[in-house]
Amino acid sequence: MRAPFIVGNWKMHKTVTESLDYVTAFLPQIAEMRDCDIAVAPVFTALASVAAAASGTALQVFAQDVAAEGPSGAFTGEVAAEMLKEAGCRGAIVGHSERRRNYGETDAIVAAKARRALDAGLLPIACLGETLAERESGAALEVVERQLGAIAGALTEADARRIVLAYEPVWAIGTGRAATPDVAQAMHRHIRSIWEAAFGATAAAELRILYGGSVTAENVADFTSLPDVDGALVGGASLSPAGFAQLIRRSRE
Ligand code: PGA
Repeated sequence: MRAPFIVGNWKMHKTVTESLDYVTAFLPQIAEMRDCDIAVAPVFTALASVAAAASGTALQVFAQDVAAEGPSGAFTGEVAAEMLKEAGCRGAIVGHSERRRNYGETDAIVAAKARRALDAGLLPIACLGETLAERESGAALEVVERQLGAIAGALTEADARRIVLAYEPVWAIGTGRAATPDVAQAMHRHIRSIWEAAFGATAAAELRILYGGSVTAENVADFTSLPDVDGALVGGASLSPAGFAQLIRRSRE
């Protein structure tokens, strides 16, 4: 009932030329994969050209972030949701832990970004996750609950059926130390139960929750085979077209 979803977050990698070369190599490799939603999230400067190159194919294009304000205004350096939509984006990642940690994005800002994305007709992928210190002190559930509460508070019931969530424990991102399947499943279940309490059983059953943090072609199926994991948000392992296509194939095995 929930279509699996694999998203490659390229972070600050790839020029426009490199992004287009990637898409040229990648599209033939995913041409036969119809049972899975597939997206990449290039840097802002490459979005319009990648979206044009992917137009009419199964490859969706997401931005890595979106302004909390819009549709225009005096917000130097920001890009509005409406502008991303016009550039051909299907959605935007919001609240990645690198944004929260390095750029001071609070729960309230992340919620505002999700809200703006939805208002512009974009699909937000909202990231949640605890740090190592928070996990070790036993606060992981509470932290994710707080992050989720801020997002849920900004949504209507209809929005709650469109947004995608990603559980990305901060200690697992870029470290080669993925969460264990038990840890991922327990948190995903927890997130789904919070969604059920907030928005009802149907919204909870439809909610797609991706796992992110050191996902590779080797371990992806350990996560995607779990009952409450509906896909993956992939950083490093999405940077090569052949490697990412292989990861997507393995996620379906
Ligand atoms: P990683 O990054 O796959 O390189 O750990 C995941 C992410 O930050 O979304």
